[in-house]
Amino acid sequence: MTPKHARLPDRVVAYHEAGHGRPLLLLHAFPFSADQWLPQLAAVPAGWRFIAPDLRGFRGAGRDHHDGGLESATMATHAGDMLGLMDHLDIERAVLGGLSMGGYVALALQGQAPGRIEGLVLADTKATADDAAGREARDKTIALVAEKGPAALADAMLPKLLGESSVKAQPGLQHAVRAAIAVNGADAIISALRAMREREDHSSRLPHIACPTLVMCGAEDVLTPPKDSEAMAKAIPRARLVILPDTGHLANLEAPEAFNKELRRFLEEVN
Ligand code: MLT
Repeated sequence: MTPKHARLPDRVVAYHEAGHGRPLLLLHAFPFSADQWLPQLAAVPAGWRFIAPDLRGFRGAGRDHHDGGLESATMATHAGDMLGLMDHLDIERAVLGGLSMGGYVALALQGQAPGRIEGLVLADTKATADDAAGREARDKTIALVAEKGPAALADAMLPKLLGESSVKAQPGLQHAVRAAIAVNGADAIISALRAMREREDHSSRLPHIACPTLVMCGAEDVLTPPKDSEAMAKAIPRARLVILPDTGHLANLEAPEAFNKELRRFLEEVN
């Protein structure tokens, strides 16, 4: 699928789009791109329009032109970028879905503009911020990427990204995940690591999220384990929790059919 391009006043946003009707904006995980959502873009329910943008800087490998503002980008910057894209596409309200880092951005966006969110899908993510150990780990990862590049990050992350069951049942998936990471340059990766290190804790806001919310998590997710999803689903008044069996952190890629079925069911409920 070739991305479309939205020419905003300050930058160009690449995004995938499929279907017609009510919009669902899908925000990808770290360190991926909008391509992460291809299994969902291939199965858009009737009456829905799925839009999956690259977050600022991502899919930058091998490009001459680089996104600006990466040195100072925060989750709030990414959220503002997505609101800018919604404005550009004349979308007043959308359902918003994010997986892992995409979920961090979704929560930031929901905080900035709750009236523009009709529903939330929080997949393999969490509302809490990095603790001291987490921030220290970010610094080490930043140093690794600065010194050895994105391929070294792929080596380090791969064992944690996919669930044990998927690795056994889908031997090709590791290669596909490595290729999906390789579309990114070190600049975007380091920028996102800094933004995740500094992200705010949304836990105290969860009881005030009024929209219908689907919280989904792979049962074998070791990066944002089911207990994080359970905590979010408990705190958000209109949330429903789904734990996908035999699935790790990249639930939408590892178990696309189960993920799509739950997503479709949720979208039918959002009114
Ligand atoms: C992601 O999948 O987006 C990242 O693992 C999130 C994180 O590192 O906190």
